[in-house]
Amino acid sequence: MTGAHLVIETATPAQTRRLGEKLARYVRPGDVLLLLGELGSGKTVLVQGLARGLGVKEGVSSKSFVLLGEYEGRLKLYHADLYRLATPEEAEELALDEYCRDGVLAVEWPDRAWHVFPDDHLLVRFEVTGASRRRLSFSATGERSRQLLEALRLETKARARA
Ligand SMILES: Nc1ncnc2c1ncn2[C@@H]1O[C@H](COP(=O)(O)OP(=O)(O)O)[C@@H](O)[C@H]1O
Ligand SMILES: [Mg+2]
Repeated sequence: MTGAHLVIETATPAQTRRLGEKLARYVRPGDVLLLLGELGSGKTVLVQGLARGLGVKEGVSSKSFVLLGEYEGRLKLYHADLYRLATPEEAEELALDEYCRDGVLAVEWPDRAWHVFPDDHLLVRFEVTGASRRRLSFSATGERSRQLLEALRLETKARARA
């Protein structure tokens, strides 16, 4: 399955935020981004960039006790943080896939409830590789997420040449 992966290293939080802003250019309603990685690895920073790129005016919170944040931008942005999810059933009750169909859904700690997400999603694995370095590994799991990944790949290549 060629082309289904993309690895990007960022050297500052601003670079991670910018990556989120780039993604914002290509996302569509119904897109699902699942963000995996330890606390402090930059998941919320990416979502903050996504929000900015979507023209969301208010700040995106990184408080882990908010299960679902909803933001109005060019598209609706749903930001879920499942860190404090008590049981997977709690995620089923949120019915994220139904509720968030009219916007973009970005989820931190999706591993708390894998089964509630659609098969086709963009998976982003965050690794801490230095005090201010993070490695983001993007994987597409279907047709739509592959399109999104390709757009991001072209975008980041263009930047590397500029
Ligand atoms: N390259 C980087 N990308 C993103 N965040 C970084 C980076 N370098 C340092 N940081 C810091 O790491 C922290 C990431 O926080 P956050 O995004 O809330 O993590 P998470 O949501 O994964 O728990 C922030 O304090 C941010 O300033
Ligand atoms: Mg977070």
